[in-house]
Amino acid sequence: MSAINTYIQNNFGRFTDELLELLRIPSVSADSKHNEDTARCAEAVKLALSKAGCSHVEICPTDGHPIVYAEKIIDPNLPTILTYGHYDVQPPDPLDLWTSGPFDPVIKDGKIYARGSCDDKGQVFMHVKALETMLATNSLPCNIKYMIEGEEEVGSSNLGTFLEKNKEKLKADIVLVSDTSMISMDTPSIETGLRGLAYMEVEVTGPNRDLHSGVYGGAVANPITILAQMIASLHDENNHITVKGFYDDVLNLTSQEREDLNKAPFSLEQYKKDLNVTEVWGEKGYTTLERTGVRPTLELNGIWGGYTGEGAKTVLPSKASAKISMRLVPHQNSIKIAELFTKHFESIAPPYIKVNVTELHGGEPVVTPTDGLAYRAAAMAIEEAFGKKPIPTRGGGSIPIVALFEKILGLKTVLMGFGLDSDNIHSPNEHYGLFNFQKGIETIPLFCKNFTKLNQTS
Ligand code: BES
Ligand code: MN
Ligand code: MN
Repeated sequence: MSAINTYIQNNFGRFTDELLELLRIPSVSADSKHNEDTARCAEAVKLALSKAGCSHVEICPTDGHPIVYAEKIIDPNLPTILTYGHYDVQPPDPLDLWTSGPFDPVIKDGKIYARGSCDDKGQVFMHVKALETMLATNSLPCNIKYMIEGEEEVGSSNLGTFLEKNKEKLKADIVLVSDTSMISMDTPSIETGLRGLAYMEVEVTGPNRDLHSGVYGGAVANPITILAQMIASLHDENNHITVKGFYDDVLNLTSQEREDLNKAPFSLEQYKKDLNVTEVWGEKGYTTLERTGVRPTLELNGIWGGYTGEGAKTVLPSKASAKISMRLVPHQNSIKIAELFTKHFESIAPPYIKVNVTELHGGEPVVTPTDGLAYRAAAMAIEEAFGKKPIPTRGGGSIPIVALFEKILGLKTVLMGFGLDSDNIHSPNEHYGLFNFQKGIETIPLFCKNFTKLNQTS
């Protein structure tokens, strides 16, 4: 066994215990009640990077949650990898569906159960422990910088400014991100694209106040009914999105590209069984892998209005609202799509209600190259660690900052993630396999080695 793998094996119990400590901090970025916890989590990440051997660590305040920056520079002439990840997590709700506390990590059946175990503290921590391992075994081949942010789950709205202001500090040859999934541990894969996002909130107002539904009902439009009708009209009978101009800029894949995409191992039966649905649903003419990987979507994320408490209340509410997000693909643009949506939604509103549409946040889609040194370095590293060549796939999720790495810093990204779609991220009982955690720690030093070598011979 290599010195690196021996070190990982001998220290894996401690690595895991340290990760559990980090998972105990409820760094929920969306919830201001947790602002102190989120700040404490940044401190914990900083300390971990410092203990792992970084030569410089700092907490960079922003208008929101702080960014942890750290680096280990061994020789300015060697390549530099900028590792990006996030220490913030999604809210744990609904709490009653967790089998153990979201911030009381437990290990069951070889998996760590906790909010953030996979997305993304567990994956960030692999990078921390990989650095410790490389330094302890005298095998760090290049320079590494770390930028671990606390606002990914709320749209990274302050990170763009940080990139603009710190171009020199963030100088690197590649961005390495572990915040995506693989097909399975038996079928390793690398995501080569992320979808963009346009996140909207809509509010429909009818009468100027809540009304008695017997006294007024049937004589005044109910905003919930109208909102439901408007929402229902956003997809047609083929589940195409009806927002005018929505598909105008969509990059259509060639038939060869579609064929390649659909070659990835995927069992529709298993997929349905796992989700307990009898049929899948989606845009007519596309497979499930295409629907989640290369086609844009429009999803309702929440809807509310009227009385939702215990028992019955006979009310005709004044207002109804919904949160609607659209996943975007190359070459759609989130600002343009937000405008098209706003215009469309206003245009379908009947004259007897008012609508108000606001954009919450947006981000652009990306495709990461498969012909560059970094992809090759990652593919070789995964092959060495897993014994199998990884398959390139298109992921459905979004990491809005990745587009800005290219735009602001001029840097390409490689998405070397070790999660699984079945890890329940953003959902109750999020978990991360100890095997995934270990494989990640083993693969990262191999990536560093390969990327450095390929750079020196190219
Ligand atoms: N790590 C996820 C994104 C992801 C998950 C990519 C799985 C590929 C596979 C990230 O933390 C996330 O949840 N992003 C949000 C976007 C953000 C603006 C709230 C998302 O995709 O909904
Ligand atoms: Mn994430
Ligand atoms: Mn997430």
